[in-house]
Amino acid sequence: MMKDRDCGSLSKKDAGQVVILSGWVHRRRDHGGLIFVDLRDRSGLVQVVFDPDTSKENFNLAEKLRSEFCVQIQGEVSIRPEGLENNELKTGEIEVKAQKLTILSPSQALPFALDTRSDVDEAVRLKYRYLDLRRPELQQNFILRHQVTKAVRDFLDKEGFLEVETPMLTKSTPEGARDYLVPSRVNPGTFFALPQSPQLFKQLLMVSGFEKYFQIVKCFRDEDLRKDRQPEFTQIDMEMSFVEEQDIQQLIERMFVYLFERIYAIKIDTPFPRMTYQEAMNRYGSDKPDTRFGMELVDLTDLLADCGFKVFNETIKKGGQVKGICVKGCADYTRKQLDDLTTLAQELGAKGLAWMLIKDEIKSPIAKFFTDTEIANITQRLQAQNGDLLLLVADQKETVAAVLGRLRLDLGETLGLIPKDKMNFLWVVDFPLLEWDKDENRYMAVHHPFTAPKEENFDEDPANALAKAYDLVLNGVELGGGSIRIHDANLQTKLFKVLGISEEEAEEKFGFLLQAFKFGPPPHGGIAFGLDRMIWLLAKAESIRDVIAFPKTQKAICLLTEAPSTVSSKQLKELHIASTVVKS
Ligand code: AMO
Ligand code: AMP
Repeated sequence: MMKDRDCGSLSKKDAGQVVILSGWVHRRRDHGGLIFVDLRDRSGLVQVVFDPDTSKENFNLAEKLRSEFCVQIQGEVSIRPEGLENNELKTGEIEVKAQKLTILSPSQALPFALDTRSDVDEAVRLKYRYLDLRRPELQQNFILRHQVTKAVRDFLDKEGFLEVETPMLTKSTPEGARDYLVPSRVNPGTFFALPQSPQLFKQLLMVSGFEKYFQIVKCFRDEDLRKDRQPEFTQIDMEMSFVEEQDIQQLIERMFVYLFERIYAIKIDTPFPRMTYQEAMNRYGSDKPDTRFGMELVDLTDLLADCGFKVFNETIKKGGQVKGICVKGCADYTRKQLDDLTTLAQELGAKGLAWMLIKDEIKSPIAKFFTDTEIANITQRLQAQNGDLLLLVADQKETVAAVLGRLRLDLGETLGLIPKDKMNFLWVVDFPLLEWDKDENRYMAVHHPFTAPKEENFDEDPANALAKAYDLVLNGVELGGGSIRIHDANLQTKLFKVLGISEEEAEEKFGFLLQAFKFGPPPHGGIAFGLDRMIWLLAKAESIRDVIAFPKTQKAICLLTEAPSTVSSKQLKELHIASTVVKS
């Protein structure tokens, strides 16, 4: 190789050794007749010194070096003179006295400096992604990603799981997002879908008797992107036969214990806490609560049913709720700050936001509508003290949860209430099986239509049944979700009926699965984790894009390759496609 050592691996122990290094010029400084180069490779940086007294020829060549030139250097490792050590550098106790320099390839001036990330537009960094990826902080994310997938594979192998690949060109699975479609050349007018997940294939592998399956697999969903979503992302996908919910949950807890022990040498506590969906919605206004801080939602409905404030009592009469949060020590919020919170609440669907500042007495535009007892009850229920700010919302329960849940998170962030070093895992369990879809005017499966209901009340009241489904949440982010599946044909037929899926439609969409389930399917269940989200949280990276080598933008575009792009009419013709773009 063109190198016999890694830059970042050199230390005092190597003093006196002659080494060959290859890498990039991170920085060049001229100083007192010497040239200093910080040489960088994947392992880190080391300082190289060019002295004209050692070799005039090398020194002259070193004068030509610019940032990001790719070079090879032979030199002697030497301990830095006392007082000249650099404590910020792992290799700061030594330097390499250059004996020979070879320029492997020069570099143009970079479109952005690698160490001034915050000032550089992300679009520019994504266009030159291969340069952005030279930044050591970004490379760390990929080292972590590699360690995690390696550890996951080792763990699951140890637990008897088999890694099996499933097709990328497939029929759409019922995951609920829009599919990416691929036209078939050989079969005019037909399309493959890229998988939203390997859901149905992994269930088929259970029918095949694989018992324990996993795959680290790309999934594709054409959905509106948010900060924790990419159109193309990776799942750690698993399925097991002969299991109940707790078997899968315990396996996953063992997996995280193993990961944290191996990667961080720390022991995390298990079992992870469990919270029902209902409790999560009630207390946090979210099915993925961030439990690292308090400021929980408090129900005031029973206290205010007969109050004098029309907005509140009429909402309650219509079956709505009044809930509030207590923002500690924020009674000095200005009118502008309160107006901003109100605007945010309205953007999230609230009709308004009621506030009360507790400054010895209550300051609030709506205080006059309440009796002293009502005020005392509200403050007591919210455990409010002098100096606190109370925020109240009256609406239907979904809106109250969405608004107060989000205000809680925003205020938690701005007020610095979220301890960033905590890792709060939480199982959210007992999800509802179905939810009413206003647009489609029918029930939809919350998870997917193969999720098994809890037996308790499915027969009498399927619409209100709970599902054998579970999500794993970490610090307010849904890391993974799964369920026990239906393996009983009668139960499946019944559920399709409740979902308004006709026999013909079921046959057309998932006939192959229903057919397979006629041949002794084992009881089975599984889970899938978003690997990108997981690394994003573990690396404490700013964006999910920082842990994906070549990510897409919020507009689902790859700025590097400029995909998606138009294709030639010849290609379209071969695919039997006539294309006109309809502007929506
Ligand atoms: P689900 O749809 O909940 O379940 O997906 C599982 C996990 O995948 C991650 N994820 C995403 N990550 C980044 N970008 C996206 N667009 C994106 N969408 C999902 C999340 C999520 O928790 N087949 C079922 C699993 C099962 O039942 O076994 C499924 O795909 O972290
Ligand atoms: P109004 O009577 O509409 O002027 O509202 C008086 C106060 O109550 C204002 O501060 C509104 O923001 C607030 N408010 C109005 N509707 C609601 C609601 N549904 N929930 C909470 N506060 C509200």
